Order: sequence, then structure tokens, then C-alpha cells
Amino acid sequence: MTFPSDRPRRLRRTPSIRRMVRETDVLPRHLIQPLFVEEGKGVRRPIETLPGQMRYSPDTVGEAAAECADLGIPCVLLFGIPKAKDEEGSAAWDERGVVQDAAVAIRAASADIVIAADLCLCEYTSHGHCGVLEHGVVQNDATLELLERVARSYASAGVDIIAPSGMMDGTINGLRVALDEAGWDEIALMAYAVKYASAFYGPFRAAAESTPQEGDRKGYQMDPANVREGIREAALDDEEGADILMVKPAGPYLDVIAAVRAKTQKPVAAYQVSGEYAMLKFAAAQGLIDGRAAMWESVRGIRRAGADLVITYFARELAREFREHRTT
Ligand code: PBG
Repeated sequence: MTFPSDRPRRLRRTPSIRRMVRETDVLPRHLIQPLFVEEGKGVRRPIETLPGQMRYSPDTVGEAAAECADLGIPCVLLFGIPKAKDEEGSAAWDERGVVQDAAVAIRAASADIVIAADLCLCEYTSHGHCGVLEHGVVQNDATLELLERVARSYASAGVDIIAPSGMMDGTINGLRVALDEAGWDEIALMAYAVKYASAFYGPFRAAAESTPQEGDRKGYQMDPANVREGIREAALDDEEGADILMVKPAGPYLDVIAAVRAKTQKPVAAYQVSGEYAMLKFAAAQGLIDGRAAMWESVRGIRRAGADLVITYFARELAREFREHRTT
């Protein structure tokens, strides 16, 4: 045989051939757009740490969600920023809390968008930790009881998917039982199954005012060095009845996404977090990288690793580009 025996470049020769053999698509239906909601009226406040993202109020978030639906994005993920914080984070289970009001408003604005809500106490507690604090340590089981309360109030407000992000042990089982007992057996759980104690949450914490006053989250979020532990965490949430398993962050943990994908038959989501987004945005603004191409490449890489769904601040921008150029 003459050298070279195979010429892979044959299938890279023209845009049409390349499109034909492309293995991984990024379509609007794969995306989930996070939305931040604060109390008040008429709010559309740009978030400095996340260029292009805004904080809404319940009366303005409906329009933002309807725009997502219009762009073909199936789901939004809500984060609440309450005015009043206390030791337990009681604003989180207020019937008229900010996420609850936002869910009602979104449902009024769009009949079919899937409403997901992040379930965590860190935005609601005065100390900024994700649960009940005793002598500086987050108490696992006491926290679960509070999370169950919040979950029931989210369900009554019309949230379709509850996404607990606090990394408390037994969360999925606890929430599943609490929801089922209250008659909410149709509400799905998207588990932040494998969530690392990551430096890439910085811009989010600034946006959501959820930085811990003291200490860090290493007592409950995972060590970035560990993959086997991540597989175990995912298996636990799978067994406990999670409907979707999530890995977070996404870009630095593609191996973890692939490993979880290989072990479960359930949908896998990955969260391209605030730091991943901000790095690309600020590098592009400096002219260091082509922001548009880097956006597609970063999200495509997460899909290629095995994520069915990608939670990303780029969701709207990607879907707008898709509409304009039919890029996939
Ligand atoms: C709440 C929560 C965080 C994020 C999602 N849910 C912050 C944290 O754990 O500190 C981060 C999302 C992002 O950085 O985009 N626990």
C-alpha cells in the first residue's frame, strides 16, 4: 500500500463534507438559561461580573423567559436573590418569595417553557453557607428539613424541575419523599450530583450575593482532584431517584461528565459556570480570542464529553446565532 494509506483530510475538504460528518451538535433544545431574580419591580440590572446577563424582578422575568422559549430554549433555571437574609434562610420557603413569584410570572408569560429552580440556602442565609450552621459546620440533616420545605413551596408555585445544589447527603431521597407525600410526584429532580468546590463560581457569588461570610464550602462541595468520588455521588443520586444528573463546573471536568455518562441511563446535564463564561467574555473583550467561536467550541466540547443538556449563560446568544446562521 502506498503511504499514506488513509487520508482523513478527504472528509475535511469542503464545508458541506465537514457538516455531513460532524459528530456533535449544539442545538437550542440542549440548552438551559440561568436567570437571576431579585425582589422589586421593573428591574433589569446588568450584572457586571457576567457581561450580557441581568438581574430581573418577578414582573420582568416573564418576558426574559418567553424570549428563551421563542428562541427554542426549552428551560430556564431560576436563582433568587432575596432582600432579607437570616440564619436559616427562611425567605427561601416564603410563599411569596422571589423564586415563587418569578415562577408564577413565567408561567403566565409562557405556557410551555420548563421552569427549573435552583434549590439552595446560600443566597438566603445571613452567613452565606448552604445550610444550617452550628459552630461553623453546616448541619446535614437539619438542612434537609429546610430544603424539603422550600421544595414544596416551589412545587406549589409551578416549578417543573427542582435542582438542589447544596451537596447535602441524602438530599434527593429526602426531597423525593417530601414531594411525593405532598402529592407532587410529577415534579422532577435535577441533582447537582457532582458539584466541586470550585474557584469558578466567583462571578456568580458576586451576582447572587452568596459568598460565605467565613470559611469555604469544602466541607460539602467536592475536591476537584476526585473523579471516583464523583461517580459515587452520581450513583447515589441515581439510586435515590434523581431524574437528571448534573456535573458542575463543566469545562475543567469533561472527564467526569464522560464517566457519569457511561454509568447512568438517565439524562446528564453539565453546568458551564459563571467563571467559565466570564473568562471567555473578558478574554474576547480584550481581543485575545474570537468570542463567538470560543463560545461554540466550549459548549460543543461539553456536549461531546457526554452532556445531554448544558446549563450555560451563553444559551440565549447561542440560540440567537442558531436562528440567524443555522449553525449547529
Ligand atoms: C448555589 C449555587 C452556586 C452556583 C449554582 N448554585 C454557587 C456556589 O455553590 O457557591 C454557581 C453557579 C455559577 O457559578 O454559575 N449553591
